[in-house]
Amino acid sequence: MKKTYLVTGGAGFIGSNFIYYMLKKHSDILLVNLDKLTYAGNLENLKGVEGDTRHIFVQGDICDCTLIRNLFEQYDFDYVINFAAESHVDRSIACPEIFVQTNVLGTVNLLQRTKEAWYNQETKSWKADKKYIQISTDEVCGALGKEGLFTETTPLSPHSPYSSSKASADMFVMAFHDTYNMPVNITRCSNNYGPYQFPEKLIPLIINNARHHSQLPVYGDGMQVRDWLYVEDHCKAIDMVTSSGKVGEVYNIGGHNERENIFIVKTIIGQLHDRLQDAGISEDLIKHVEDRLGHDRRYAIDPEKIKRDLGWYPETCFEKGIVLTIDWYLENQEWLDHVTCGEYQQYYKKMYKNRR
Ligand code: NAD
Ligand code: DAU
Repeated sequence: MKKTYLVTGGAGFIGSNFIYYMLKKHSDILLVNLDKLTYAGNLENLKGVEGDTRHIFVQGDICDCTLIRNLFEQYDFDYVINFAAESHVDRSIACPEIFVQTNVLGTVNLLQRTKEAWYNQETKSWKADKKYIQISTDEVCGALGKEGLFTETTPLSPHSPYSSSKASADMFVMAFHDTYNMPVNITRCSNNYGPYQFPEKLIPLIINNARHHSQLPVYGDGMQVRDWLYVEDHCKAIDMVTSSGKVGEVYNIGGHNERENIFIVKTIIGQLHDRLQDAGISEDLIKHVEDRLGHDRRYAIDPEKIKRDLGWYPETCFEKGIVLTIDWYLENQEWLDHVTCGEYQQYYKKMYKNRR
């Protein structure tokens, strides 16, 4: 049966990859994509689905009560998948308020509007076969030492304003489940990489700087560890959780791809140097700069639950995924040029110029 989805934040990195993944995988679906088009949202990310009647784009804010009510009146959504967020840790350190606005209040607005549409006050029951999916992050669990992995029962212990806002949103989602019996899932994923990632994040920033022979800023000693997941594998997991995840459950998503930041940077340099035969791209460009405040040392996900219960597994190992990613950025330099002009230049100066 045809399913109708409200996808929020579908013009951003993971959201746009999800739109592509879903339209390729399922023929009979309707995706209503609500995105505010902040600096991180970009209609160029969705060029490949222009003209596809299974995708409808709506520009708007998840904090907008009337707009979301109207969307629920217009469409009988089966699923709400909330990707929309302010997503960059460094920006949250510089300016936390917008993270509370979008990530906390926006999520609560979305939950409330969804409840209004799906919950019958008289019969005290929910419409059948509906579900709200919150796209969360491993960062809500805090940071790990050298050993251990985050599981679904690891206590929430966020450190940055970003992760605190995401943890708060998770708690509201669970509060709606526990209080009103709302059908929900939460997914917590590790660091994604792949096409369409905005070059404020480590991998595309390093690719973009290297191609211009600009300095490659490595925070602190560069020995922090992230658990990298190719974005398409994340999209596959979200699709599986949406259709088969048990109501009320949290699912961790990760690919056992732990790497130190300095390794990532050196891998990109090596790949670009060889591919472009460019002697100007070398490790001499690396500059160790002042560390991020409160920098989490290590994240690592235990994905056993989603593997065991839903049969998900990541198909793309890091060695393959990084090549696919670099290929994509080299083939889409026009996209990179567009997203790095304008506001990005001011952002970059503000964030990196005085960072010794
Ligand atoms: P992104 O910053 O690339 O995209 C966010 C999108 O949300 C943008 O299109 C933006 O315009 C939109 N948006 C922002 N505020 C909005 C608002 N108020 N109303 C409607 N739209 C709004 O982020 P991403 O990396 O694609 O992350 C998507 C989600 O996945 C986020 O919730 C993030 O916390 C989570 N996540 C990201 C990663 C990662 O590695 N990127 C890992 C785990 C979880
Ligand atoms: O773990 C999931 C999270 O991954 C998501 O929830 C966030 O939305 C996403 O932004 C990401 O957070 P990180 O802070 O881990 O990603 P970022 O790409 O900003 O940084 C990755 C690592 O690289 C981190 O240890 C900081 C470091 N770094 C980052 C930048 C931008 C540098 O050393 N230099 C840089 O210039």
